[in-house]
Amino acid sequence: MSHLNPLPVIGRDEPPYEDPLDLMDEIDRLKVEKDATILAHFYVDGEIQDIADYTGDSLKLARDATRVEQSTIVFAGVHFMAESAKIMNPDKKVLLPDLLAGCSLAESCPPDRLHAFQEELREEGRDFETVAYINTSAAVKSLCDWIVTSGNARELIEERVPKDKEILFVPDQHLGRYLMEVTGREMILWPGACMVHEVFSLQDLMRAKRNNPGALVVSHPECPQNILEVSDFVGGTEKIRQFCMEHQEPKVILVATESEMIHALKKSAPQHEYIPVPGIMTDTGETCACNRCPHMARNTLQKVRDCLRDGQPEILWQPYFDKAKDVLERSLLENKRQSSDMNGD
Ligand code: 13P
Ligand code: SF4
Repeated sequence: MSHLNPLPVIGRDEPPYEDPLDLMDEIDRLKVEKDATILAHFYVDGEIQDIADYTGDSLKLARDATRVEQSTIVFAGVHFMAESAKIMNPDKKVLLPDLLAGCSLAESCPPDRLHAFQEELREEGRDFETVAYINTSAAVKSLCDWIVTSGNARELIEERVPKDKEILFVPDQHLGRYLMEVTGREMILWPGACMVHEVFSLQDLMRAKRNNPGALVVSHPECPQNILEVSDFVGGTEKIRQFCMEHQEPKVILVATESEMIHALKKSAPQHEYIPVPGIMTDTGETCACNRCPHMARNTLQKVRDCLRDGQPEILWQPYFDKAKDVLERSLLENKRQSSDMNGD
């Protein structure tokens, strides 16, 4: 019988349970011992946001990474974020708790396909600049003229991309369409989408609105047009946070973005009630988990502790980081006025 493959044991790969409070103590101790700091995106588990030294959206975290004094950065987020932190801090050790924490947008735009498409456009005589959402690999960034985040895209396009150039926008078609609308610029759109924001159901949202008269809807511009059209506010995660803080009067707020964002919203604007979209709107009354990003969810307290303790997985410098560094720095650090007021940094 020994030649037969053993049956898989459910839960065998799950790490043994550890008390979150013990893990937090261990992480605090290791941070000092290893001279490390923790950056966490608003989409990672709330308990990781709570122990982080910096939390924020992609723009704020990319900028925070340049101000860190410690020699090691632990980036609780996804691969492209940790990669950007490394690119902007070549001399620091940058750790990502789980190297498999990717992004469906970044994956939709491989550098060889982008390069081939750019060549095609050039052969057609098109005069364009390539604007990439930060949710791309460093290899893609190195092929682009500008990098934007949801926090600075509109301002950067309006103020810095020459009016006489066409724009090739990669990789998020929904954000690109939204930017065409608000900037009035025509764009060639790459057909990528975020696996989380693309699946919000208009029907569930309309039912939630009907069941909560007077509720406000906030949505991320990675959502399709039909969701944005019924929203009271559209913005990246930091702008959503600011919007909720500005409303003093308690409201029910329907949140059309990754559901862990609600942790940050409850901390910053506790006067409101937040309902994730889709939340408990299915016929059975069950909560749908499709508004949780599976990549962000790879970050756990255990993995944060492990990477601090072991000094890995580490983002290592690659030759194309040099070009990506130029593009990232001039897009996110120069002319910083363009979104700092709105992001409160
Ligand atoms: P922001 O936090 O920059 O709005 O980005 C959202 C996102 O999807 C990150 O992957
Ligand atoms: Fe990528 Fe979407 Fe996850 Fe953000 S929420 S990391 S865009 S897959």
